Amino acid sequence: MRIFSGIQPTGRKHLGNYIGAIRQYVEGQERGDPALFCIVDLHAITVAYDPEDLRQRLYDTTAILLAAGLDPARCVLFRQSDVHEHTELSWLLGGVCAHGDLNRMHQFKEKSAAQRELVSAGLFFYPVLQAADVLAYRAEEVPVGEDQRQHIELMREIARRFNERFGETLIVPEHRIPEVGAKVMDLQEPDRKMSTTVGSDSGRVYVLDEEKAIRKKFGSAVTDSGRDIKRGEGKQGIANLIGILSAARGVSEESVEAEFEGAGYGDFKKAVADGVVEYLRPVREAYPAIRSDEQGLEAVLAAGAERARELASVTLADVRSAMGVGPA
Ligand code: TYM
Repeated sequence: MRIFSGIQPTGRKHLGNYIGAIRQYVEGQERGDPALFCIVDLHAITVAYDPEDLRQRLYDTTAILLAAGLDPARCVLFRQSDVHEHTELSWLLGGVCAHGDLNRMHQFKEKSAAQRELVSAGLFFYPVLQAADVLAYRAEEVPVGEDQRQHIELMREIARRFNERFGETLIVPEHRIPEVGAKVMDLQEPDRKMSTTVGSDSGRVYVLDEEKAIRKKFGSAVTDSGRDIKRGEGKQGIANLIGILSAARGVSEESVEAEFEGAGYGDFKKAVADGVVEYLRPVREAYPAIRSDEQGLEAVLAAGAERARELASVTLADVRSAMGVGPA
């Protein structure tokens, strides 16, 4: 089973990224043959950014993935811009992707509305590059959070259209969205997802947050005026905390509800903070040594890119040939 996923090197990675995606990558590397994980720097340049900052964030994200348990001996970890096949394939796939489909993308609508100076054409084309990322490896499974569902649907449509028009060439991939934690919500505004770009720092827990900060953020998490620690109508805040604790402890949401039946919100929030502090501790502790060795990080990425290129170049040759591009 080939597994592929991508993560942006923007901002600081938060609990939503960790629960929705990163923990699935680590699990996926045991099953993947291979499992490929890509830090998508070319996606990050579609909105306003600072070039030097991008490089630093790329190392930050690489180090977080390694600290979280990705092992370069058991997976392929690489930087998107190192493998030119992604950009070439995205252009080729642009020929079978409907403009109208791109127009419907929620993420484009949200992100374009947030841009102050320029809504780039790259931002519009973003989902096609994302399709190329996955289709270049003929990956079958794509672990992501709920917010990527529409992008995965689109890449499936692109693969189907390509195969219909040019003959069976690409694999139509499936998403893998976790049952719990696919959409971790903002702690201050529990009706919207935890996000790097929207909301305040107190609403999101960073993977590298110190224990004290984690406790403070959960302590002030917004709940409701009721008393029940149960999921349900008007209980987004509590439901979010239940989901987070269930993911952190690796138990079901029902068992969290049963354990805290009759408990007060204050005690519950404290338990969630404890759970998350312990959950993230190994990553937080492993990170500094990994992050400080930039040469080591570059070596990991270079080796990953080499293996990625070997796989992607095969697909690219097939796609070019099926499309009649280049010599026969
Ligand atoms: P990105 O970098 O925004 O997010 C990385 C992963 O984290 C998940 N995620 C969440 N999961 C649960 N709750 C949340 N609040 C939350 N916020 C983010 C995302 O669903 C994602 O899985 N377009 C992608 C990157 C990408 C990609 C790909 C993904 C590029 N090429 C190919 C899969 C396959 C993105 O911006 O992810």
